Amino acid sequence: MKEKIITVDNLSFRYGANKVLDNVSFIVEKGDFVGIIGPNGSAKSTLLKLMIGLLKPSKGTITLFGKDINEFKNFEKIGYISQNVRDFNQMFPATIEEIVSANLYLGKGLFNKTKEKDSMKVDRALRIVEMERFKNVKIGNLSGGQKQRVFIARALVNNPNILFMDEPLVGVDLESQTRFYSLMDKLNKEYGITLVMISHDIGIMSKKVNRILCLSKGKVYCHDSNKCQCGNVLTDIYGESINLLFHDH
Ligand SMILES: Nc1ncnc2c1ncn2[C@@H]1O[C@H](COP(=O)(O)OP(=O)(O)O)[C@@H](O)[C@H]1O
Ligand SMILES: [Mg+2]
Repeated sequence: MKEKIITVDNLSFRYGANKVLDNVSFIVEKGDFVGIIGPNGSAKSTLLKLMIGLLKPSKGTITLFGKDINEFKNFEKIGYISQNVRDFNQMFPATIEEIVSANLYLGKGLFNKTKEKDSMKVDRALRIVEMERFKNVKIGNLSGGQKQRVFIARALVNNPNILFMDEPLVGVDLESQTRFYSLMDKLNKEYGITLVMISHDIGIMSKKVNRILCLSKGKVYCHDSNKCQCGNVLTDIYGESINLLFHDH
């Protein structure tokens, strides 16, 4: 059996009186590529924030790498690209190298040796996303797709075991999307990184992921993508056209 990376058990979450997740349970296994879909306001971002410990469950438990999330400390194992990344100030005068290295997990000394190692980590992350030669370029001078790859490098710099991405494809052109998915394939297959991403682009995503979490009205429906039974749920959410998307394999 594969290692369970995340176990969510009877999880509920509320913002004040507003219950947005109601008793949901699912697992994520090592090597999974998980897609999260659901209409606006269905608590996709909230669920992601709960899984990385930014929010605390109102009820239920989350286990990360076999440890209760309240006791979990190895946050460098987790990469996260938030929904707000694309709103990043274009004029911010930082170079790619500075942006990626700013995310290096701290807690080490400031000896030169460590610094050398850190710059190797930055180079490695930039190499994976094929942005090495832009190292000294300012972030404001990059295209949408290039910026996206820099933020992926930023999330990769600590060599995480799992990467969470909140709508990484919004505002990215089609060519960059294709490139994004081949990068995901490389991270997943070559580097063994477990991937969890939120996207509205169900058509393409459902062909790439192996597990789909459908969020609707506080509930989560979890399925293997190749025998996706969220059909009914999705028809409610997105309308009839969804069936065409899913059965076009
Ligand atoms: N910080 C917050 N305080 C109060 N309500 C929130 C907050 N963040 C999100 N919500 C509400 O929780 C629900 C789920 O939001 P969110 O997780 O952002 O959904 P999604 O990412 O699926 O669009 C929405 O009704 C939203 O208005
Ligand atoms: Mg969201």
